[in-house]
Amino acid sequence: MAEKRPMQTARIKIISMGDAEVGKSCLIKRFCEKRFVSKYMGTIGIDYGVTKSEINGQEIKINIFDMAGHPLFYEVRNEFYKDSQGAILAYDVTSRSSFESLPHWIEEMKKNIGPSSEANNLVVYVCATKIDIGNRKVDELEGRMWAEQNGYHYFETSAHTGKNVDELFKALFKSVVNRLEGANVAPVTAAFSKEQADAVRKLRTGRNDHERLGVPQGASRDDINKAYRKLAVILHPDKCTMPGSEEAFKILVSARASLLTNARH
Ligand code: GTP
Ligand code: MG
Repeated sequence: MAEKRPMQTARIKIISMGDAEVGKSCLIKRFCEKRFVSKYMGTIGIDYGVTKSEINGQEIKINIFDMAGHPLFYEVRNEFYKDSQGAILAYDVTSRSSFESLPHWIEEMKKNIGPSSEANNLVVYVCATKIDIGNRKVDELEGRMWAEQNGYHYFETSAHTGKNVDELFKALFKSVVNRLEGANVAPVTAAFSKEQADAVRKLRTGRNDHERLGVPQGASRDDINKAYRKLAVILHPDKCTMPGSEEAFKILVSARASLLTNARH
């Protein structure tokens, strides 16, 4: 077991990344100033702020570098990746393109942070923003799966209502401090497989029972039962703890029952 080291310096550096307008500055403002501004005032290049937080009984000074997401500001923000210890990687749940940009932000960070060991040591928290709006284009399952499969933490937040904002920042600071102190921190691993996630999504979004079970129109009772058994094993409540899997299991049972009623022998 690695020995726990006292922190050399009670100061950490955090950056924010993500497309323009996803709500990075609002998240930081909500945490630091406990308020929300609805008018969009894009960050020009970079904003810098300092805050304090007590972590593991020690007062930590936190330097936050809030980056502008617009591509225009690349030349300004690329200098600020270096020496970062924690990052908020934000996307807006009502904007599919902001979610699809996440890998580009990781690429940009890796290119500019310095030696690859620094990229590996950066603690990343993927942050889904604006969950108060509804009309989602990316559901929690998809966001969480992307984050966890890349070894990142995940939070669903709203700077508007304040939901999960304090929790996000506190967890991020604590992870960074623990890593600096050399504490044994379990890596983030996906709590569910891609197969399970695909099965849940298919059952929740299928337009009819055939689609939900993945069988063709006119499938035999045997085909239906075979598809059912395969999905039932993947989604069995004892094995699958993924959000939405319980509901998916119920959909599976009722889809099978209704298909069997009409199926040929
Ligand atoms: P850049 O600085 O250009 O990279 O943008 P940003 O990511 O910092 O976005 P910013 O925080 O300025 O927010 C963009 C817009 O989204 C603003 O109009 C905010 O009021 C709005 N917004 C941010 N967070 C939320 C939220 O949780 N809920 C709602 N409804 N709107 C939000
Ligand atoms: Mg901003």
